[in-house]
Amino acid sequence: MRKIAVIGLGNVGTTVAHDLLLRGLVDELVLIDSNEKKAQAEYFDFSDSFARIPNNAVIKLNDYGELKDADIVITSFGDVAATAKTGDRFAELPINLKNAETVGQKIKASGFDGILINISNPCDAIVNRLQGVTGLPHNRIFGTGTFLDTARMQRAVGHVFGEAPQNVSGFVLGEHGNSQFTAWSTVKIDGQPLTKLADDGKANLDELDKTARDGAFVVIEGKGYTCFAIAACAVEMVQAVFADLHQFMPASVFLEQYDCYIGYPAVIGKDGVERIQPVELTADEQSKLDQSAQTIKEKAAQGKN
Ligand SMILES: NC(=O)c1ccc[n+]([C@@H]2O[C@H](COP(=O)([O-])OP(=O)(O)OC[C@H]3O[C@@H](n4cnc5c(N)ncnc54)[C@H](O)[C@@H]3O)[C@@H](O)[C@H]2O)c1
Repeated sequence: MRKIAVIGLGNVGTTVAHDLLLRGLVDELVLIDSNEKKAQAEYFDFSDSFARIPNNAVIKLNDYGELKDADIVITSFGDVAATAKTGDRFAELPINLKNAETVGQKIKASGFDGILINISNPCDAIVNRLQGVTGLPHNRIFGTGTFLDTARMQRAVGHVFGEAPQNVSGFVLGEHGNSQFTAWSTVKIDGQPLTKLADDGKANLDELDKTARDGAFVVIEGKGYTCFAIAACAVEMVQAVFADLHQFMPASVFLEQYDCYIGYPAVIGKDGVERIQPVELTADEQSKLDQSAQTIKEKAAQGKN
């Protein structure tokens, strides 16, 4: 029995839940939202799809007690309207730090000891706080981090070079936010280092980096939120856990040297973060990573007694 709880049933949480159901990745789905009416509505909307999709699942509603034997909890609580209004993911910081406290305490009280994947923004600061409150070991709690920004970079680079995004490898590292950066020394197209291919002037790396960083806001400007790409990232992480894929991907993981969560390559499998996978960075990239870690730590410390 694969049991997953989604906490926060907005644009993101419902898309994640929908993807999990359609792909048949879940047998028991626990749906939790502080807005009771919305949670009820989502419950019925999902349940009404069962007669027309090839998969079925038992859905439980707004019961933290159900987390005790859940394999995975996905946190997607928040208030995206605050981000949309200001164009700054940190607008949700005070809201989601409070949510992380209340939700984290309930997760802890449930006896949950599975894997927690955080999406709520600002992703790195919130996963930091959730870890502190739940006391889950660092390997069992991580965030989507720069996995999404990396997908945006893959899309942008692929577009310029006429390649599928899957043919572009490498990482956006650091904060899921303004201090993130594309580590160009890690980026390859069909195995060829991009820094060599970009020598012919075809690609403006600063522009491509900006495209990845600003990707969310291009979407938010048009529709007020993002949902499909982040859900695809979270579901890929779920698959990495359930299938014990030992998948190499950037995630918001705990780095001892910074004493905080930050977007960095790791290997994900059935126990969550199996290991952090060090990547060779240039001196400039290393310095950007150090600065980004400082930014995250300042945000993560806000509102702490
Ligand atoms: N990490 C990423 O790459 C990424 C990408 C997209 C969105 N996000 C973030 O994901 C979060 C959700 O986005 P959204 O568009 O679904 O937002 P939304 O505002 O549509 O939905 C948030 C939901 O959380 C619920 N909620 C709020 N506080 C809660 C609590 N204490 N307990 C349970 N539920 C609670 C709300 O009732 C609402 O239904 C936001 O923080 C957003 O910024 C992160």
